[in-house]
Amino acid sequence: MKRIGVLTSGGDAPGMNAAIRAVVRAGLKNDISVIGFKRGYNGVLMRSADQGDDFSLMTARSVSDKVHRGGTFLMTARCSEFLKEEVQRKAVENLRSLGVEGMVCIGGNGTFAGADALNRLGMPTIGVPGTIDNDLMYTDSTIGFDTALNTACECVNRIRETSDSHERASMVTVMGRDCGDIAVHTALACGAELVMIPEIPWSVEEVADRVKWGVMRGKNSMIMIFAEGAVESLTTDVEKLCAQHECLRDVSLRHITSSQIAMMIEALAQHETRATVLGYIQRGGSPTSFDRILASRLGNRAVELLRDDVGGRAVGIRDNHIVDVPIEEGKQSRKGADQALLDLIATLS
Ligand code: F6P
Repeated sequence: MKRIGVLTSGGDAPGMNAAIRAVVRAGLKNDISVIGFKRGYNGVLMRSADQGDDFSLMTARSVSDKVHRGGTFLMTARCSEFLKEEVQRKAVENLRSLGVEGMVCIGGNGTFAGADALNRLGMPTIGVPGTIDNDLMYTDSTIGFDTALNTACECVNRIRETSDSHERASMVTVMGRDCGDIAVHTALACGAELVMIPEIPWSVEEVADRVKWGVMRGKNSMIMIFAEGAVESLTTDVEKLCAQHECLRDVSLRHITSSQIAMMIEALAQHETRATVLGYIQRGGSPTSFDRILASRLGNRAVELLRDDVGGRAVGIRDNHIVDVPIEEGKQSRKGADQALLDLIATLS
């Protein structure tokens, strides 16, 4: 191949810039020119008034001073239209018109679905896993997970200090709509007492009992890590519970917030409980050395595969070895939680 393209799509993840840099520099090293497409698949569809706003030819200097920066300088977006075959065909046509012979798509399972589609339509494409959620089954780690985890841990450490001082319970909401990996790893790393995740049903009653039990055992603070998607695995009859407690009458039954869950725990445990939502703090920030190294290795491997005319693969890491699997397999989300880690949290709390 003489020319390839690179894009980042879906939620940004720290380390995406390091991955783009690796693709560009490894490409140039292999005499392959690289076009960077902006805003994910939207850039490939080239609908901006100024095409410079959709893509540009990368040079070694385009990726200078990027390896340590969070976010993605190519920007990112979700592109629901890309589910349509006619849109995918248009994308392949556009890529061919620019002389692009292969693509590297950096993102999560939605990005990989688009990459799979491009590949099926004859554009060799490699998926590079970039998502803080770490929810792809085929790889031990995704780019961005380690940074998000370390950021969450630093925040929880701070929350623990104030919770200790006030002898409160704290519920800390971390990201993870469908996957509890950030929550489980944060809980273990921070010595949290409890973790609530989308994969495992849980109830306010059980959690409140655990808080009461912790207080009885003389715990100064109780830290509960709550994955944002765990609201879906809540089994409590919230309507009934709120009807029984005057202080819960303002709880919305349509959209329960973290603060409202903390209020319910407080009402049942009779122990002051506060909520903190970490939100996008976890997605920003300079990538850890682990994520920079992972991104560099995966970006380089993606280029090697395209150089050898191999497409339709997702690159990942298993037991510290760089691997590649069919992209169809790569886009599958991890099912279920790591029970061994959950058991360890329970043992150590
Ligand atoms: O990047 C993945 C993720 O962080 C999920 O955990 C989260 O639910 C989602 O992105 C939210 O993304 P956005 O708010 O950008 O749509």
